[in-house]
Amino acid sequence: MITTGQILEVLQKVVDPELGHNIVALGMVRDLTVHPGGEVSFTLALTIPTCPMKDHMAFNARQLLTTLPDVSKVEITFGEMTDEERKNAFSMARPIPPKLNAFNKIGRVIAVMSGKGGVGKSSLTALLAVMLVRSGKKVGILDADVTGPSIPKLFGLPAGGLRGSAQGILPAITPLGIRIVSTNLLVPEEDTAVIWRGPLISGTIQQFYNEVLWGKLDVLLVDLPPGTADAAITVIKNLPLSGALLVTSPQQLAALVVRKAVHMLQSLDIPVLGLIENFSYYRDPQTGVIHEIFGPSHAGEIAELTGTPLQLRLAIDPALTGLCDTGQIEQADTTALEPLLALFLPAGTAVSNRN
Ligand SMILES: Nc1ncnc2c1ncn2[C@@H]1O[C@H](COP(=O)(O)OP(=O)(O)OP(=O)(O)O)[C@@H](O)[C@H]1O
Ligand SMILES: [Mg+2]
Repeated sequence: MITTGQILEVLQKVVDPELGHNIVALGMVRDLTVHPGGEVSFTLALTIPTCPMKDHMAFNARQLLTTLPDVSKVEITFGEMTDEERKNAFSMARPIPPKLNAFNKIGRVIAVMSGKGGVGKSSLTALLAVMLVRSGKKVGILDADVTGPSIPKLFGLPAGGLRGSAQGILPAITPLGIRIVSTNLLVPEEDTAVIWRGPLISGTIQQFYNEVLWGKLDVLLVDLPPGTADAAITVIKNLPLSGALLVTSPQQLAALVVRKAVHMLQSLDIPVLGLIENFSYYRDPQTGVIHEIFGPSHAGEIAELTGTPLQLRLAIDPALTGLCDTGQIEQADTTALEPLLALFLPAGTAVSNRN
């Protein structure tokens, strides 16, 4: 015959979704009895009798117990905790993640990722935002490179530019109207070092998403630091991503590490929307001859290997470097990124009709 100990072990798998702990640890399982013939009965002591999760928890408990071979029937009655017990249960509760600012309405959240550093993620995130805002979209950029933020500088935004309001943190706004949040806008000087470890990085990114008053946005672009560490994991697991854009460069190493990023996205069912190979070539303005300065492209291979639907090769553009360095990215020519516009149009709309 099955013992009460074995039953309690199984019931530890039933979690009170509001309190974030299992019903045994919370002391909710009372009067547990195993009757002859394999009938199991217990009382589920609720924090409040009208607990909206009570049927959910009872259903899960019954489901789990009835799969045990020695259990013929499960009888659950609802009870109620005393004030003291309720207080204890609530003190065990895990902090519930903050809800998205009630004033926000964000259409698509898209992460810009790479395996390797310095391939142009931040510049391309900014350029993409410029292109989208020019095509009439409301755009925000969440700078998830918490310890190495570079988005504000590209737009010439000064340090310390974030403001608070009763409704949440207000993003900085560029001349074209792009809303930006970055740790670089929190620190007093642009070059103040932010030396934070994983949990703080993760918490900051979630706060940037949840607590900022983004308002109504068609697209929120998330600029990630290179690699697949804390920031990338937080963004992929905690933000409601519609997909990710991957940035690579022609170097073998960049091609190799971008595959790692792809595997991470695939394992969490995040679609890879496109692959951008930056620094792909240089076109001599006098002769029009193309030079593959960093070697031949690997974009086709990676796109094929990973099943990425859209690939784009971008040239080395010294004018862009200059505009980035002087905080004038909003003056840049975004023609080369136009194939990406298709990702932001309603299905069936031709790119050439975007205006
Ligand atoms: N297509 C391009 N042509 C010329 N310069 C470029 C191009 N793309 C990016 N750059 C320049 O390359 C440098 C690195 O770009 P950026 O900071 O965007 O890379 P990143 O991938 O975000 O780097 P990190 O991994 O450090 O976050 C910047 O100075 C930027 O202006
Ligand atoms: Mg960057």
